[in-house]
Amino acid sequence: MATHQIRVFGDPVLKRPAAPVTEVDGALAKLVDAMFETMYEAPGVGLAAPQVGVQRRFFVYDIGDGEGPQVMLNPQVVAASGEWLYEEGCLSLPGLAFEMVRPKLVTVQAQDLDGNEVVIEGDELLGRVFLHEIDHLDGVLMLDRLDKAQRKQAMRELREQGMGVLTPGGRKHAL
Ligand code: NI
Repeated sequence: MATHQIRVFGDPVLKRPAAPVTEVDGALAKLVDAMFETMYEAPGVGLAAPQVGVQRRFFVYDIGDGEGPQVMLNPQVVAASGEWLYEEGCLSLPGLAFEMVRPKLVTVQAQDLDGNEVVIEGDELLGRVFLHEIDHLDGVLMLDRLDKAQRKQAMRELREQGMGVLTPGGRKHAL
């Protein structure tokens, strides 16, 4: 199966809020499979639909905890607590990573591909993936959450690398 091109900073699709998933059909299942493959190839631990140009509220993830590839449709944060500092990266901001504090424990309610409601609690990295990917569904990039100094540095780095050229390395867990 062919992988998708990952949209990078500057692509307007990344700034637009996505619409709810209303139809769970074979086409969606196929797209999800292609997104798994795209995520693994990148490599990343999470990938949201807008990052492959699809303006629908879903994302895929696999944090390497043995659960395998997962998908969440129409995810919503229902609880968040604590604080956790993590150096966050993004497949749409190649080469960039910034330490950011976000909630440590995050509970998300979503639908799976069978139409079942699921509630999953994510601690640390898993919680971070949930928050990062749901931001993508709202048209929010990691960049938008940086403080002024970090943001300035990020913009400089993006400019220096010509924005949109994927560079190998420099990413730990890109989301
Ligand atoms: Ni991202």
